[in-house]
Amino acid sequence: MTPQLLAGKRGVIFGALDEQSIAWSIAEVCAAMGAKFTLTNAPVALRFGQLNTLAERLGATIIPADATSIGDMEKLFQQSEEILGGKIDFVLHAIGMSLNVRKKNEYTNLNHDWMLKTFDISAVSFHKMCQVLYKGDHMAEWGSILGLTYIAAQRTFPDYSEMAESKALLESFARSFGYHFAEKNKVRVNTISQSPTMTTAGQGVKGFDKFFGYADTMSPLGNAPALDCANYCATLFSDLTRYVTMQNLFHDGGFSSMGMNPKLIQE
Ligand code: NAI
Repeated sequence: MTPQLLAGKRGVIFGALDEQSIAWSIAEVCAAMGAKFTLTNAPVALRFGQLNTLAERLGATIIPADATSIGDMEKLFQQSEEILGGKIDFVLHAIGMSLNVRKKNEYTNLNHDWMLKTFDISAVSFHKMCQVLYKGDHMAEWGSILGLTYIAAQRTFPDYSEMAESKALLESFARSFGYHFAEKNKVRVNTISQSPTMTTAGQGVKGFDKFFGYADTMSPLGNAPALDCANYCATLFSDLTRYVTMQNLFHDGGFSSMGMNPKLIQE
């Protein structure tokens, strides 16, 4: 029997595109743990993704919203409160997209207009989301806001390109907004730094398959699967972690603390 850690909690989940999405697993776990939530994604993603299947199965309402649009997010959180019947206890931001990575531009030859768009989608959207939640007073006291990030914010992974700076910005926004939200009504704001995971966004990175294997061997526990990431997120949405805020939390099988793993030399 799944523990009902999130019984009575109301949430909004961004970023479930298909079954591989980390947000997809998070939605399934949150539902199994007793939460009610709305699901959201960019209107274009709703056309080619599979979010309807998930929404039907979990009995959740889909509200389209482009996370770069303040207007869309104002509507999203207003409607979510109405549908769920009260203020929001948890929000998941699981959004990332790089135009330069998609176009396979080298890091030393990036298009800077696209770079700004990448930052807007992958990082500034987190600030916009927090600001709409803050100004609209949508979050319940002791609520929890989470973003998903990657260790390229701290260390260099050349093929991650401009997404590294996006994640550094995202983590900084979470820390800074964590202060303001704690002062306002005890809401916590954190990021989870997840292992490489086989998803649409992940596989967009050059050489991802080989890198996935490298990280898996380097991590003493192996790469953390999406389902385990979902379980970890659920603890952070629950009342068991009320004093954890302004943190970047590694969920990576130990990767971030390794310097060298002998297994990689033996192979
Ligand atoms: P995914 O491709 O399934 O999810 C990315 C989501 O962002 C998609 O649902 C997409 O529609 C959404 N999105 C893009 N532009 C948007 C916009 N303007 N408005 C609203 N939504 C938009 O891939 P994944 O891997 O599940 O990504 C979720 C998060 O996890 C991302 O922040 C990603 O950077 C992060 N992450 C992924 C890792 C991996 O190896 N897959 C590792 C560490 C972090």
